Amino acid sequence: MITLPARLLLGPGPSNAHPDVLSAMAQPLVGHLDPAFLDLADEVQARLRRLFGTANRMTLPLSATGSGGMQACFANLVEPGDAVVIGVAGLFGERMCDVATRLGARVTRVDCAWGEVLADAAMAEAIARVRPALVAFVHAETSTGARQPVEAIARAARDAGALVVLDCVTSLAGLPLAIDAWGVDAVYSGTQKCLSCPPGLSPASFGARALERVAQRRTPVSSWYFDVELLGGYFGERRVYHHTAPISAIVGLAEALRRVEEEGMEARVARHQAASERLLAGVAKLGFEPLVAAGHRLPMLNSLLLPERVTREGEAAVRRRLLDRHGIEVGGGLGKLAGRIWRVGLMGENARPEIVDRLLAALAEELRG
Ligand SMILES: Cc1ncc(COP(=O)(O)O)c(C=O)c1O
Repeated sequence: MITLPARLLLGPGPSNAHPDVLSAMAQPLVGHLDPAFLDLADEVQARLRRLFGTANRMTLPLSATGSGGMQACFANLVEPGDAVVIGVAGLFGERMCDVATRLGARVTRVDCAWGEVLADAAMAEAIARVRPALVAFVHAETSTGARQPVEAIARAARDAGALVVLDCVTSLAGLPLAIDAWGVDAVYSGTQKCLSCPPGLSPASFGARALERVAQRRTPVSSWYFDVELLGGYFGERRVYHHTAPISAIVGLAEALRRVEEEGMEARVARHQAASERLLAGVAKLGFEPLVAAGHRLPMLNSLLLPERVTREGEAAVRRRLLDRHGIEVGGGLGKLAGRIWRVGLMGENARPEIVDRLLAALAEELRG
């Protein structure tokens, strides 16, 4: 049988899957129309609604990674020629611009420095000027470790009649989400971050205004696979075939969601926060500094400016030693931040003091002298 090395995954994702999730996935298959599986699908959809903070009927695990969720939201909600405003605070905001442009949208981007958060006023100004059909931005920007406040931007977008799309790939199950209260119309996430599941599904949700927009399209949704009306055949009351559901992946997600509810989001959020604080206090002694200002830091993704002793040797070489000698993976910087930061993920099951201490001990050993 194929075997893989044991790794502690403390990068930007994937994080380690919980053993119970992996065991659930290893069970013998049932059919995707089996009543037992459909009951599980109901349960998954109900639990996702609670986690996103929504009553949206159309809440489902898309058969895709997070990028597929992004593709699905834009493909359904954007038509060629539509004006779209996108907040770009890092690589995943950039990716949104690429996806929307490929769909023929006229994209206006609002940028901020990587590591900072979008200014409400700059977003509101662009929205008032462009009068877009849709406004999109990222809640937890994994390329920088910054947490974007949502409500003011969503309000400005809705006041202008625009739909609001939010990327919650890294925030789901690690930060509280209340997408209905925030006025978010469509949202997507991923399973491989704070849910502690393998990658492969994109939990997503579409509200009434979003579905109305789809119903009124002038052109068919360009993606047959992600057409939300077609997907509603299976992920709605009729449960008719659209594509074969990735059964084992959904079973794993069901177990992960069960674990999240068993712990409770309040305790889970506190656990992520405590782990992040422990990490930052520990790495400060080794000369690492947080990139993001206090108040905007993501607890599950800690971006650390590198001390001279790491850059002198070459940060990739030090990361490689952590992997080879300690079995620990941490992430490097992306794009503009490549070579300048590390991204240390403390996501889901890995947001625990003993995990932080294991990393700190390995780092102390590698950076001694
Ligand atoms: C904020 C954000 N959006 C989108 C994605 C894309 O997800 P995936 O790599 O699962 O396709 C990621 C992945 O890291 C992410 O962090």
